[in-house]
Order: sequence, then structure tokens, then C-alpha cells
Amino acid sequence: MRIGWIGLGKMGKPMSESLVKAEHSVTVYNRTKEKEAPLKKDGAATANSPKDLMEQADVIFLMISDDEAVKNVFEGEDGILAADIKEKIVVNMSTVSPEISRKMATALKEKGSHYLDAPVSGSVKQANESSLVVIAGGEKATFEKVKPLLETIGKKAILVGDTGAGNVTKLAVNTFLGVVTQGLAEVINFSRLKDIETKDLMEILNNSALGSPFVKIKGDAAMQENYNAAFTLSHLTKDLRLAQQAGFDAPLGNAAYETFRKAEGELGSEDVIAIIKKLQ
Ligand SMILES: NC(=O)c1ccc[n+]([C@@H]2O[C@H](COP(=O)([O-])OP(=O)(O)OC[C@H]3O[C@@H](n4cnc5c(N)ncnc54)[C@H](OP(=O)(O)O)[C@@H]3O)[C@@H](O)[C@H]2O)c1
Repeated sequence: MRIGWIGLGKMGKPMSESLVKAEHSVTVYNRTKEKEAPLKKDGAATANSPKDLMEQADVIFLMISDDEAVKNVFEGEDGILAADIKEKIVVNMSTVSPEISRKMATALKEKGSHYLDAPVSGSVKQANESSLVVIAGGEKATFEKVKPLLETIGKKAILVGDTGAGNVTKLAVNTFLGVVTQGLAEVINFSRLKDIETKDLMEILNNSALGSPFVKIKGDAAMQENYNAAFTLSHLTKDLRLAQQAGFDAPLGNAAYETFRKAEGELGSEDVIAIIKKLQ
């Protein structure tokens, strides 16, 4: 299968590189063309627009910011839907709303093509290690066709339901991530107030049943005051907002949304753990 890849940001770059390294034939497109250079160096071809890419590939992956970006890539003048296509598969790995997935799935179906929502759990580290968990929604036959590719990008791919179900599940996962991030930031701030060293608190958490790769990475970042984004606070706020719009309504997730929403203007481009500064 000829592979197309749209979106070479923090996640899309290492994810598409996994496919190039596995010796697939990959063509890439990114709105800001300079970001295509490293992929080109690795052996990928490039396309001038999403429309061109659709015509050159059989399976097209998307890893772009949000609903607005998806709308733009599908419905723009040189977008996916402007292409003359049949029997293509678009795999949207971006974290977006279930509504936009259903809308684009319907539009592709009218063109005799297929859509899979396939957001991922994991961040840049897991993308580099090809150890993401892919959470898919759509037709089983479409999922089975692309499953080997999803398992090249990640360590596991799970089909959870029809179109949009992958998005809903991902929003549940990231609401938990928002709650955990806020919780970690709050207890680090509390222990500092009580003159407990953060390194001692983190050594205890990392060696307890509460320890996790996420808590370890974000605890280290908090200790080093390193807020360079692996996952931007604005993307997490977008996800918490999308969960609310999808009907999430429970105390902790609602509180996390309010916390991150209020910090977004000031800290949006920093990493999620930068919330610790707002909560100080
Ligand atoms: N970072 C993480 O840890 C992480 C983990 C799991 C899931 N996600 C999700 O994965 C997606 C990508 O995240 P990221 O961290 O890779 O973001 P990023 O580094 O900000 O990259 C965003 C990508 O989307 C493209 N884009 C944005 N608006 C566009 C538009 N209107 N038209 C066309 N392309 C557009 C950007 O193109 P330009 O280069 O031209 O700006 C870039 O390629 C998001 O949905 C995010 O929530 C992120």
C-alpha cells in the first residue's frame, strides 16, 4: 500500500518516521513546508497539497491539531475532498471531536472511500519508540486492513466501536490525564509549602503503586522547571473542552477543565505540567 501522511508536528514527525523506517513507501505533506525536510532526507516523497497526496496514496494518515485543521485539510480548495478518489482509506490520528469524524466519514463514503478515527495514547517519547496505543473507531474491515500499519506506529491498536468511538474514548483518556496532571501539580506545591523536597516526594510516588511513566516524566520536568512542550497545555485544554462538548459532566474532570481553561491564555504553548505555576 502507498502511504500518505499529513501533519509533521511534534507527534506526526516521529510517527511517520516509524513507517519510513519500516520501509513503506511514504509521501508526506505539511502546511509549513520546511517541516517536510527531515522526512525527505529519510527517503519520503512530498506532495504539494492534501489533494495531490490523496491521488498519490492508498492509505492517508492525518496527525494535525484540531477540528479546524481537519476541516481545512478536508474542505480546503486543494483539500482531500477535492481529489478524484475511490477506495482510499483516511486514518485520522489527531485528537478531535466525534462529530467531525462522523462528518468526514460520511463525505468520504459518498466518494467510495473509508474513514477511521484512530487517536493515540502516549506522547512524543512513545511516538519515537513506536510504542503508542492506537484507539480506533470505524468499520472492522477498514480497521483490519490498516492494523499492521497502526502496529508499526504503536505497540497496540484497539477497535472500540463505530466512527467517533475512538475519539470519545481518547477524550475519556485525556480527561483522566488532565485530572492526574492537576493532582500531581497540587501535591508537589503542597509538599513544597511544607518544606518537603520534591525529589523525596517523587521518589516515594515513583516507587509506589501510584507511580507511572507519566508521573515520572512530569515529576522530573517539575523538578527541573522544564516546561518545554511535549504535549502543549493548549492541546490538553482543547481535549478537556471536547470532552465537555461530548457530554462529560463529573466533578474532577469538570474542575480540571476549569483549571486548564483559565491557564490557557498565559501558558498554552508550554507543557501541560506548567499548570503547576498557575496553581502555586
Ligand atoms: N503532543 C502530544 O503529546 C500528543 C499526544 C497524543 C495526541 N496528540 C494530538 O495529536 C495532534 C497533533 O499534536 P502535536 O503535538 O503533534 O501538535 P503540533 O506539534 O502543534 O502539530 C500540529 C500539526 O497540525 C498542522 N496544522 C495545524 N493547523 C492546521 C491547518 N489549519 N491546516 C493544516 N495543517 C494544520 C500543523 O502544521 P504547521 O506545521 O503548518 O503548523 C502541524 O503539522 C493533536 O490533535 C494533539 O492533541 C498530541
